[in-house]
Amino acid sequence: MPMTALASDARPRVLIPAERIAARVKELGAEIGRDYRGRPLRLIGVLKGAWIFLADLIRAIDHDDLSVDFLGVATYGNAAQTSGEVRVTKDLDQSIEGVDVLLVEDILDTGVTFHFLLNALHNRKPQTLRAVTLLDKPSRRIRPVTADYVGFSIPDDFVIGYGLDYAQRYRELPDVCVLKV
Ligand code: IMP
Ligand code: MG
Repeated sequence: MPMTALASDARPRVLIPAERIAARVKELGAEIGRDYRGRPLRLIGVLKGAWIFLADLIRAIDHDDLSVDFLGVATYGNAAQTSGEVRVTKDLDQSIEGVDVLLVEDILDTGVTFHFLLNALHNRKPQTLRAVTLLDKPSRRIRPVTADYVGFSIPDDFVIGYGLDYAQRYRELPDVCVLKV
């Protein structure tokens, strides 16, 4: 059976092409490397959406004491709608007490997930806690949270690709695309 491409009526529209993502990730990496110079830094990736971003970002940070851990979260429901209920699917492997932590997220939307994660991590007494998000949809915010480093501010469209999914699909697209349904 031939591999079927996306149905033409659901073909995604490119919002941020891979080359622009790569250039911005390099800038973020340089900035983070400067800010944490001389201090060990733990990157905490939020699964699953942030895994591709984290993989590129960590290689753009010029720093000789980086470590990585992952936290898995899911919001109930797997379509384009956030239910508001956050569920931990994988906990950290290592303690973050006294550690400089940078939370790595794919997208900051309503802020519900971010708010939950920042609280949960804060309770574990890191030395410092900051966050980087590749994408930010500020117009959708219902919780008063911001990221310390933002890749791109985008309008209120549902996006896929570069790790972001729609119902667990499309994470492999190299560009950030708008899902047209
Ligand atoms: P929030 O809790 O509303 O801020 O949503 C955060 C999570 O919802 C993200 O970590 C994503 O997993 C998911 N999400 C929000 N907006 C989008 C989108 O446009 N595309 C794909 N996933 C999204
Ligand atoms: Mg998701």
